[in-house]
Amino acid sequence: MISLHGLTKEFPGGVRAVDALDLEIADGEFFALLGPSGCGKTTLLRTIAGLETPTSGNIVIGGTDVTALPPGRRDVAMVFQDYALSPHMDVMADRIAVMSAGRITQVGTPSQVFQRPANTFVASFIGSTPMNLLPGVAKDGALRVAGAVLPMAPGVAEGEEIVYGLRPEYMDLSASPRQDAFAGHVSVVENLGTSYLVTLEVASDAGDLLVQAVVPEDAEPTRGGPAWAVPRHDRALVYRDGELVVP
Ligand SMILES: Nc1ncnc2c1ncn2[C@@H]1O[C@H](COP(=O)(O)OP(=O)(O)O)[C@@H](O)[C@H]1O
Ligand SMILES: [Mg+2]
Repeated sequence: MISLHGLTKEFPGGVRAVDALDLEIADGEFFALLGPSGCGKTTLLRTIAGLETPTSGNIVIGGTDVTALPPGRRDVAMVFQDYALSPHMDVMADRIAVMSAGRITQVGTPSQVFQRPANTFVASFIGSTPMNLLPGVAKDGALRVAGAVLPMAPGVAEGEEIVYGLRPEYMDLSASPRQDAFAGHVSVVENLGTSYLVTLEVASDAGDLLVQAVVPEDAEPTRGGPAWAVPRHDRALVYRDGELVVP
């Protein structure tokens, strides 16, 4: 077991590469760290291995506090992997942690993190196609999002501003108008092999928004033509102040 308690590494000049991080990793657990370049992954690993001295906090490995021990006495090895790590879900791990600015923003199994990103940062980072994150407001008992009128979400109060999160895989395209759809024009059609990633330009109060839908290969829409993106509302995630609304 590796336990990190309030682990902080501040470099001279003031960069907090690891910021008061708490984490427990079980024996034999295959644990993956994900996050954009510069979020602190390498510094965290180097600190656990003893190649960097933490500014504060401690590191316990197998019940022994190793914070002050040199690398050779920690029974830890580090191997640098020289391939580009993409945020796709082909990282097969027991659990993953998503880091941002020296902190862990979510930790869980890959499917937990993929299906229920805890915040809009993780939602936009995880997945082969980025999640649609569309601003909206709860008004008159419905969610009003980019011109669409959608069922109210549990845990959201009248008048609140929200962000409506839906993966493109859960967005269908309709060729005729619907009230529960995002009306726009097809601007990009990207061939994914057995499906298409379609980008709609949708005019809204917040300016032009891009809405993406994955459609089957036999449903390629015409570029420039009108289309309505219909969300599978039961798959939507609603965020308020950047955090997932949990009813
Ligand atoms: N030796 C160093 N001196 C000063 N700043 C550093 C040093 N190493 C890393 N940093 C800074 O710490 C932050 C985290 O870097 P790093 O751990 O390499 O991130 P990642 O591996 O996630 O890309 C970055 O802002 C980086 O510029
Ligand atoms: Mg790195």
